[in-house]
Amino acid sequence: VAMVLWGTDNLKTEGGPIAQALALMGATPRYDSYGRLAGAALIPLAELGRPRIDVVMTLSGIFRDLLPLQMKLLAEAALLAAKAEEAEEENYIRKHTLHHLAQHGGTIEEAALRVFGNTDGTYGANVNAMISDGAWNEEDELAAAFVKRKGFAYGRAGKPVQHVKLLSSVLADVQLAYQNLDSVELGVTTVDTYFDTLGGIARAVKRQRGSDTPVYISDQTRGTGKIRTLRDQIALESRSRTLNPKFYEGLLKHGAEGVRQIEAHVTNTMGWSATTEAVDPWVYQRLSETFVLDEAMRKRLAALNPAASARMTNRLIEASERAYWTPDAATLAALQGAADELEDRLEGIAAE
Ligand code: BEZ
Ligand code: MG
Repeated sequence: VAMVLWGTDNLKTEGGPIAQALALMGATPRYDSYGRLAGAALIPLAELGRPRIDVVMTLSGIFRDLLPLQMKLLAEAALLAAKAEEAEEENYIRKHTLHHLAQHGGTIEEAALRVFGNTDGTYGANVNAMISDGAWNEEDELAAAFVKRKGFAYGRAGKPVQHVKLLSSVLADVQLAYQNLDSVELGVTTVDTYFDTLGGIARAVKRQRGSDTPVYISDQTRGTGKIRTLRDQIALESRSRTLNPKFYEGLLKHGAEGVRQIEAHVTNTMGWSATTEAVDPWVYQRLSETFVLDEAMRKRLAALNPAASARMTNRLIEASERAYWTPDAATLAALQGAADELEDRLEGIAAE
């Protein structure tokens, strides 16, 4: 299992996602005699009643900055599991670690590294910046950026050591990737950081395995928790937020900034296509109809924020060029016409 761990989410939930990672590995926190966090301990297999699951955790830079003790805790849990003399079919961390050692040599401390993130002082996977700039050709370039940025392993010492090859080899064993969603304030298409982290790792797994990996969202926004496929989550957010008049009219009360936010939803949607292919083509069709092909809306957005309108229109065209949807000829021509009109308008503004 590949998990994305963010710092703020863990602060707000008192470590909910950290607890999930520990539970998957069959570990608990270990406390000293004063009740202070001192490391990890394994739950005996007899008590666990199921195998230990191998988990690769990629941390945000904010997690690294805020939760250094918890990083060491997670690293220790993985190492203890790898060293436990248990049957391989009862302990996938050990199984994969021993397999890696047999293939590549090295130490068990290295082969059992499962906590990865940016090195000190850097944040994010840069996948979002590449999507924003359109500066990429093949989707594998996004995977390469992710692995390069997040290829620093954190062991029990808590110091980053570059291990890009090890991360790639661990990713080859991943069968599903997920991230928790902790608040209704932000959805996976609201900000560019969900596809940067979860999309980035999903694409990196695909590059290693050569096939798509299932991606899930663990929705913790309503107490009990609900698991959705990423595809369903994106469809849900597209209907309830981006394409919902109650939502976008609320944004548009904020003028230029509202248009910028609508454009961000469109760009983030394409970020998910590029990293996971989990966006249904109807989403692009409806985005085009709602914000560009509708003449009154197109004019309204262009008057409020011509630059964001142009970016959004060009992004929808880019998504079709990258074959994330296939508009009919009339739709594509209308998008192209709108893009040309907006470009003229921006040139006019620049000339004034
Ligand atoms: C974090 O808290 O780790 C985080 C917050 C926003 C975007 C990315 C990461
Ligand atoms: Mg990050």
